[in-house]
Amino acid sequence: MSTLILDGSNDADVAEAVGLLAAGRIVAVPTETVYGLAADASNDDAVRRVFEAKGRPTNHPLIVHVADVERARKLSTDWTSAAEILAQSFWPGPLSILTRRSSGVSGVVTGGLDTVVLRVPDHPVMRRLLALVHDQGSIGLAAPSANRFGAVSPTTASHVVADLNGRIDAVLDGGPCSVGVESTIVDCTSEPAVILRPGGVAVEDIAAVFSEHGLSVEFSPGVVAENGNRGIEQAIAPGMLRSHYAPNTRLQVFETPSALTEARHAAQSRGLRVVELPHPESVYEYSRDLYASLRACDDLGADLIVGLLPRAVGLGAAVRDRLLKAAAER
Ligand code: TXA
Ligand code: MG
Repeated sequence: MSTLILDGSNDADVAEAVGLLAAGRIVAVPTETVYGLAADASNDDAVRRVFEAKGRPTNHPLIVHVADVERARKLSTDWTSAAEILAQSFWPGPLSILTRRSSGVSGVVTGGLDTVVLRVPDHPVMRRLLALVHDQGSIGLAAPSANRFGAVSPTTASHVVADLNGRIDAVLDGGPCSVGVESTIVDCTSEPAVILRPGGVAVEDIAAVFSEHGLSVEFSPGVVAENGNRGIEQAIAPGMLRSHYAPNTRLQVFETPSALTEARHAAQSRGLRVVELPHPESVYEYSRDLYASLRACDDLGADLIVGLLPRAVGLGAAVRDRLLKAAAER
């Protein structure tokens, strides 16, 4: 199968993407965070194709993307006030809500779990696409990031093609992603709610909105497990953590510029070819460019990439999380 490239700014191309999805095919789609590999969430066979194309274990659940909060509520049996507050405050946007799934969501999408993660993305092409697939009767689009399992997430259509050409039916090109790291995932099934993955919405912003309503939130990064069960990654020693978001070239990350420079010189004196990951002053730019920069460094074929960790403030928490996972031992 050769992968078709569709132009998200062209109505006929968007309609073609809708037709492919309605026919059970899989299409990479733009979102403001990263590109997703979408299937009609109402079609189990299509969803299975996503797992296959990514090489992802089938017990590793997918996020379901919907056009609006009304659609999301219908897919939940227990839409809590925490979920409603988050949806009203941050949707459309880079935030995903874990809730109890209704029978309308297939267990194939959720890896057999009785919960589902829902998101209303904020990208004009994706929003148009979602409106059209809902019109065709679909509950939404199940979509993980459009990369091979464990690899760096794609933030342009050409990244998707580099990873998945020939394994997926089409890519709908919506330009480069503006946020650049995945959504923040919040578990709203527990009280207080728990942040499972830092992402495009800052933890501080979630805490602030919750506190206005007398609610609180816990922060447990890294507990979104391989199989979707909370807590498993934490139980594994850091060195055993399967690397994720990872380039092929080994990556080392540092807290300070001086530690980075020292390590760089030490590696060079051993004859290694070292490249330094760009680290823009602005954390928004760091986040937006992170995955493209990792890919560009990877393409240089060096022996080692060295990167500087931003402070864990605002979006910095998400950038740190991804850099640490990318640097984890394989
Ligand atoms: O920004 C994003 O979230 C992007 C775009 C495409 O929306 N999507 C994304 O999907 O990052 P993915 O599949 O690469 O990461 C979703 C994470 C996975 O770690 C998965 O295990 C977890 O969410 N997850 C999904 N459903 C879950 C559930 N029911 N319970 C626990 N974890 C779940
Ligand atoms: Mg992913």
